[in-house]
Amino acid sequence: MKLISDIDEVLTTTRAVRRRLNFDKPVERELVEECLRLAQQATMGSNLEDWRFVAVSEPEQKARVAALYRDTWEQTVEIPLRERRPDTVTRLDPGVRSNEEAQARQQRVLKSVKYLVDNLERVPVIMFACSAKPVPDTALGDRASGYYGSIIPIAWSFMLALRSRGLGSVMATAIVFHSERLSEVLELPEGTHPITMIPVAYTDTLDFKPAPRRPLEEILRWERWGSE
Ligand SMILES: Cc1cc2nc3c(=O)[nH]c(=O)nc-3n(C[C@H](O)[C@H](O)[C@H](O)COP(=O)(O)O)c2cc1C
Repeated sequence: MKLISDIDEVLTTTRAVRRRLNFDKPVERELVEECLRLAQQATMGSNLEDWRFVAVSEPEQKARVAALYRDTWEQTVEIPLRERRPDTVTRLDPGVRSNEEAQARQQRVLKSVKYLVDNLERVPVIMFACSAKPVPDTALGDRASGYYGSIIPIAWSFMLALRSRGLGSVMATAIVFHSERLSEVLELPEGTHPITMIPVAYTDTLDFKPAPRRPLEEILRWERWGSE
């Protein structure tokens, strides 16, 4: 059942939800399928629909995924931060953010991410968005844009549809650090790769707010960017 029908409200309040996920309320399979059916209307490259989804709900399968996520956290966050590896410190360390407010915000995000890492197997449904497109051989260019640009929109539409129905989720790409092992766990066919994980649960509140964002003047210029 749709609880939030105002499109602007859905667009501005679909947060990355981790700590407010309700692990105890089962999520109906039909509801997940309804949200994905809506999301299938998303934009895509080449009109090919070469997106594939795997919804994980069995405890043993969730435990396998959760183990990979825990190892991802250790390898990509905990160890590099402890060893002060410069690229991780720049990306993730609250201490290097520009002001106190930004530092506190990053601290909260890290705590929230860790909470999900510690509790992933308790999430009722763990969705995986995968791509069956040929993998681009460069990080930039039309093939690269087409590759990721053909899967993230459907994932985001799925998250919006969930939000409108009182569920929460988070786009969690980090687990793709273990792309090959994840493909084995999900038994993906040759040439199909996981792009993002989307944990799905009812939320223990509907009261999410728009988040602070940069003023538009900082991210938009008309006609050309020009000099700083
Ligand atoms: C491409 C992408 C990758 C992300 N990866 C992760 C992730 O691995 N783990 C996680 O907990 N959140 C992840 N997020 C969620 C962001 O942390 C979150 O959207 C951001 O902090 C802004 O918060 P908000 O969406 O609530 O405004 C990701 C988001 C995007 C778009």
